[in-house]
Amino acid sequence: MKIAPSLLSCDFSKMGEEIERMDQAGADWMHLDVMDGHFVPNITFGAPIIKAVRKLSNRPFDVHLMISEPLKYIDDFADAGADIITFHVECDSDIDSTIDKIKSRGVKPGLVLKPNTPAWTVFPYLEKLDVVLVMTVEPGFGGQSFMPNMMPKVKEIKRECHRRGLDNILIEADGGIGRDTIEQAADAGVDVCVAGTAVFRAADPAKAIELFKTF
Ligand code: DX5
Ligand code: ZN
Repeated sequence: MKIAPSLLSCDFSKMGEEIERMDQAGADWMHLDVMDGHFVPNITFGAPIIKAVRKLSNRPFDVHLMISEPLKYIDDFADAGADIITFHVECDSDIDSTIDKIKSRGVKPGLVLKPNTPAWTVFPYLEKLDVVLVMTVEPGFGGQSFMPNMMPKVKEIKRECHRRGLDNILIEADGGIGRDTIEQAADAGVDVCVAGTAVFRAADPAKAIELFKTF
């Protein structure tokens, strides 16, 4: 299992140090949650912040856009140094154009599904994707409870990828993942787990990441 700590749970007064801390703790990817206060009822940070902390780690930056019009901002996040950009299939931008724009910048595209969005909505785009991110909480806030009823959706997407010979697509899960829930994600076939609270609130984040990676 790959682990992507969500910086949403970090101490923002020292975000750079927090990224270094996660890098040293063995994080596989850095997960950066961008919220616009419109697509979700919360506002976080944008491309200038990501650009400022980019130099503090060589790990892939996994930028999760919870914004209504991702297409307008792809250049900004590519310029900021994103390696992976995931955006929501429920957004207002044209999905194909947004994926094509991400790829044209040499960045890996991923689509995200909110809990009430069915698996089939991402099927038309699978051939063009590197990542499918299944939300296991309603997007907007850290520290919520994992929704185990999202695991059939993970399996359905995994099955469809396999049926089409797209076994290189990574399935990522995001929200409420920690010691008590990661096994369910692993059993369903999740390849990358985002973890905010469980990593940043751990007494020893390196130990937590090491444990999570064994699933
Ligand atoms: C929620 C974000 C998540 C969140 C995960 O909208 O996309 O990345 O920060 O935090 P935890 O692990 O605390 O649920
Ligand atoms: Zn996220």
